[in-house]
Amino acid sequence: MHRLLERQIRKCYGDEPPSNARCLAFMTAVDAAYHESDSDRALLERSIELASAELAERNAQLERDLQAIKRLEIGLLQAEKLRAIGQLAAGIAHEINTPAQYVGDSIQFLLESFESTRSLVAKYRQAVDILLTEPGHQQLAQELEEAEEAADLAYIGEHAPGAFERAADGIARIASIVSAMKEFAHPDGRAKHPADLNRAIQATLTIARNEYKYVADVETDFGELPPVSCHVGDVNQVILNLVVNAAHAIENLVGNSGEKGRILVRTIHQGKFVRITITDTGAGIPEKIRDRVFDPFFTTKEVGKGTGQGLAIAHSVVVDRHGGSLTLESEVGKGTTFTILLPIDGTSPAKMPRGTSVQGR
Ligand SMILES: Nc1ncnc2c1ncn2[C@@H]1O[C@H](COP(=O)(O)OP(=O)(O)OP(=O)(O)O)[C@@H](O)[C@H]1O
Ligand SMILES: [Mg+2]
Repeated sequence: MHRLLERQIRKCYGDEPPSNARCLAFMTAVDAAYHESDSDRALLERSIELASAELAERNAQLERDLQAIKRLEIGLLQAEKLRAIGQLAAGIAHEINTPAQYVGDSIQFLLESFESTRSLVAKYRQAVDILLTEPGHQQLAQELEEAEEAADLAYIGEHAPGAFERAADGIARIASIVSAMKEFAHPDGRAKHPADLNRAIQATLTIARNEYKYVADVETDFGELPPVSCHVGDVNQVILNLVVNAAHAIENLVGNSGEKGRILVRTIHQGKFVRITITDTGAGIPEKIRDRVFDPFFTTKEVGKGTGQGLAIAHSVVVDRHGGSLTLESEVGKGTTFTILLPIDGTSPAKMPRGTSVQGR
């Protein structure tokens, strides 16, 4: 008998429940009703449970969609910004290129002229020496010697070649930065194009030099790569973000000690993929934040130094735009390696999970 009915009977009749047939039939009917209502309630509870689980799953899905939209939005905003900066940079690079070229040509011309003038001056010197011993010409010879001293001819002869060399060196560096800027600011269209990634990475390292030169030496170990079908401007941006992060991580470790860390950039051809690794000897990423570093706006840097978008953008470019993968390995106090895997043909998805592949090295 249902416990509620039992209780009610005890309440009404004490230890002597009615025993006539009509009462018993009524009690049996009530008992059945109680049991029916129990199973209805259980059913209701189960469906509420299911509905809340579905709701929770939908909420989680919405949260995931929101994150994806956020990432996409950042990617789009960033792509817009980059396109504008890229155009500006390419324009500036072009503007610098022309004067740099004629400064370079002029330095070359002056160097050659100086060399030929040097042999002429040597001949003049001989003539002055002869004039000094020739009666009637000594006055002129002395004036020539004085003019020579006033012009500091000996000093010019000694230092001018070095000055020409430095000027030629400087202009060659400007030319290489300008060409790296042009390469870096390569306007990306909607379609992917085959690109020489080693060259693109080298150009990006030239552009980023100012970000790392005081804290790290950068080494490259480029393997032979086939052309990779990609949006090379976006890939450049990813490399830049990772190298700047590496420099910051090293700065965190070495502080103002004057010591330098090391950033190693390697490329390897692996079947249908190209693997790019960026390894730093920085502070490392603590385990508890490793799976959050790719989240948009996650940063451990002070205001003004980081916005937390670098890795979110890198992830969106590598995974969403190129079907590749971006993973990391890190050890606190020792350093971090980020690995990018890009499909060569720009289509086949890299079958690797998103985010961290954490290993204690
Ligand atoms: N190589 C690294 N070594 C140690 N920590 C890193 C490294 N790369 C990223 N991080 C951590 O991940 C966080 C997120 O990096 P992310 O590049 O997304 O943003 P950010 O560098 O803080 O800002 P920004 O938008 O300027 O790039 C960093 O704040 C840092 O804590
Ligand atoms: Mg960053």
